[in-house]
Amino acid sequence: MERALYGQDGFYRRGERPAEHFRTSVHASARFAAAFGRLLAEVDAALGRPGRLDLIDVGAGSGRLLTGILAAAEPELAARLAPTAVEIAPRPAGVPDRIAWRADLPGTVNGLVIANEWLDNVPLDVVEQTPDGPRTMLVDPATGAERPGAAPSPEDRDWLELWWPLREPGDRAEIGHPRCSAWASVVGRLDRGVAVAVDYSHTRASRPVYGTLAGYRDGSTVPAVPDGSCDVTAHVALDACTAAGERAGATSTLLTTQRTALRALGLSGTRPPLDLAHRDPRGYLSALCSAGEDAELIDPAGLGGFGWLVQAVGVPLPCSLPG
Ligand SMILES: C[S@@+](CC[C@H](N)C(=O)[O-])C[C@H]1O[C@@H](n2cnc3c(N)ncnc32)[C@H](O)[C@@H]1O
Repeated sequence: MERALYGQDGFYRRGERPAEHFRTSVHASARFAAAFGRLLAEVDAALGRPGRLDLIDVGAGSGRLLTGILAAAEPELAARLAPTAVEIAPRPAGVPDRIAWRADLPGTVNGLVIANEWLDNVPLDVVEQTPDGPRTMLVDPATGAERPGAAPSPEDRDWLELWWPLREPGDRAEIGHPRCSAWASVVGRLDRGVAVAVDYSHTRASRPVYGTLAGYRDGSTVPAVPDGSCDVTAHVALDACTAAGERAGATSTLLTTQRTALRALGLSGTRPPLDLAHRDPRGYLSALCSAGEDAELIDPAGLGGFGWLVQAVGVPLPCSLPG
């Protein structure tokens, strides 16, 4: 998975853009960026409106989320904003010069970090329970054929025992500790501020028995063969990441769904009243479009079912989010 996505000529390393292969909230509607703009304003206030306010997008893809937040920010806040895309893929044309583009996380952050659909692309191993015990699965990238390999390492076993115990032969788990470490490295860099991870997720009570590994190419699902031709992704054990973030210094945590978080940030999906169509037809159409976009972002069977992990260091959690 590491080589297929990020090795030389890997799917992301060579600059494939997520929007060409699947639809993230960022590309579904600019109202996603606007909601994060409201969250940013709250973090700014909690930090006492500093002279420099960091805004980091980890796994920034096209850079559209940062571009949207910047465009929607009040001029006074925008002037103090230091927006940075952390992205392995090369900088796309058209990203505003104001946005810094780098491949690694900055040393310290005072402000807001967003990681939308980043952790599901952090490579991991798959383990299957066999009659001889758990085995790490090996896959031939040329054919997709799988076979059981060695027993998982002690670190893998510890993680499995705590977060994803296997029961019957055939059960599979995706060993999430690389995502825990990745998330801890984000929270650990927060001097003061808030970090938000948004992703397909599950918790210990709802792990899928056969795992979630999936491949995407050109808008379709394809077998998750790690040959560099497609995105390879697996849902995120956000509860395990929560614990890792707490160990890395998070002082408050909220684990919720995108539906709950975005509704709290003002996205309702409610259609405008019909009489508006007579009084203000343009206003009605515009409100109707917004309602449709909100409905997609908060759909519990789609993007609204994503998990939101919000962790703060040295400031309270944004008070518009549910406590
Ligand atoms: C699924 S895409 C999400 C893009 C964007 N956040 C969005 O919502 O449209 C994941 C992105 O994370 C980037 N990525 C993965 N691991 C990374 C890492 N360790 N450092 C920087 N970027 C990374 C990939 O190159 C890819 O562009």
